[in-house]
Amino acid sequence: MRKFAIILAAGKGTRMKSDLPKVMHKIAEKPMISHVLDNFSALKFDKSFVVVGFGADQVIDVLPEGIQYVEQLEQNGTGHAVKMVGPLLARAEGMTLVGYGDMPLITSETLSDLMSFHEEQGAAATVLTGIATNPFGYGRIVREHGEVSKIVEQKDANELEQAIQEVNTGIYVFDNRKLFSALSLLKSDNAQGELYLTDVIEIFKNEDEKVCAYPLENFDESLGINDRVQLATAEKLMQARINEKHMLNGVTLIDPTTTRIGADVKIGNDSVIEGNTALLGKTVIGKRCLITSGSRIIDSRLSRDVTVNNSTVESTIMDSGSNCGPYAHLRQGAVLHEDVHVGNFVEVKGSSLGRGTKAGHLTYIGNSIVGEKVNFGAGTITANFDGRNKYTTEIDDFAFIGSNTTLIAPVHIGKNAVTAGGSTITKDVVDDAVAIGRARQVDKLGLAKKMPHYRGN
Ligand code: UD1
Ligand code: CA
Repeated sequence: MRKFAIILAAGKGTRMKSDLPKVMHKIAEKPMISHVLDNFSALKFDKSFVVVGFGADQVIDVLPEGIQYVEQLEQNGTGHAVKMVGPLLARAEGMTLVGYGDMPLITSETLSDLMSFHEEQGAAATVLTGIATNPFGYGRIVREHGEVSKIVEQKDANELEQAIQEVNTGIYVFDNRKLFSALSLLKSDNAQGELYLTDVIEIFKNEDEKVCAYPLENFDESLGINDRVQLATAEKLMQARINEKHMLNGVTLIDPTTTRIGADVKIGNDSVIEGNTALLGKTVIGKRCLITSGSRIIDSRLSRDVTVNNSTVESTIMDSGSNCGPYAHLRQGAVLHEDVHVGNFVEVKGSSLGRGTKAGHLTYIGNSIVGEKVNFGAGTITANFDGRNKYTTEIDDFAFIGSNTTLIAPVHIGKNAVTAGGSTITKDVVDDAVAIGRARQVDKLGLAKKMPHYRGN
């Protein structure tokens, strides 16, 4: 049988109190709608449609290829939204999965089980239902003699109906043609004055069509996001799911409840991630790495046996055995080759540090090409910016940069060369030379006695 999908994402999401369309709010760094689309796409539909409306441009921007969008100019309800797809789909023979763009936690396994169940039953409609401890806000599943007879929305439910705990998760499978003919019968005589998709169930019942309910095993999956409280709940649940996946893959998370890992992050086994850490974006972490508390790693690639100690690492490459921190800041375009050590209060930006190089303390390295086993003394600064342009500092293998050296770029330090502590280096230094760029020391004998601080002996 041919399979179609319709995802509704036209609503403003009034309860979010946001300028952003609801489905563009992020969970684990990805817009809600993208989670839903990922889960739907695993099922391989013949055609998929997203209904857009409020903030359409932003939603269309994140739609992958092969997904058609249809505009709903006025948001007159979920039934009205599905109707918008009619001109493109109403006549097709097949079954249609309808879901809402504000349900990022529903899994593709659940969707696939629901579709199979619907097909086996030969139903006209199958509703994915769940038992909610607090059903407030959801449409309630009303049953007669055990069979689903209709769905009543929160705002339309009487007291008896409000007590029903079985709710509509907002995911359905329909016989496609029957769906669209029932949609033309919808009326807006309800509390919200809208065309409810949920009323299709009662219409089917009146026409003696078979309606089934498929109970959801894990109700958490059905969480619909309507406000920021639910957004935070979904973030927690998604985070727990992502973290569990990494732990089952062999990663140790010391405190998973305070570890934030983006949906696209990859981590090798036997790595250890402490609590209060965030691993975000397209970050890839190899085997046996250690990421300690307070670290934040974004869009970076770490090989094996790398340690990030309470540091911020952005768009950086760290080769095996390299380490940074505590309190290091590796920024855009930093490349640390094997066994490099970058210590406390060191910032590296747009620079590559060759194998075994060390910058242990209080140093800024920007726009630099640094060879192997170079040693940076504490307080080294590459002065790379003249207010308008950035210039390059080149330092060759085994150079020894004395403490508190200022390297005024562009400048080149040769192999094995040394800069004396406190030097300001403005000219290139050749291989094996010692460059001293500071005023010579002069001692004035006895002058201290005339100084205000003098306390005698
Ligand atoms: C809906 C269901 C309710 C169910 C709940 C599950 C209806 C009438 N009610 O209620 O039974 O328990 O979801 O979470 O369907 N949308 C449009 N166009 C519109 C209106 C809505 O595209 O004109 C989209 C929204 O963007 C949203 C989705 O449909 O993604 C659901 O709309 P929402 O207003 O959140 O419905 P609920 O009140 O949660
Ligand atoms: Ca909702």
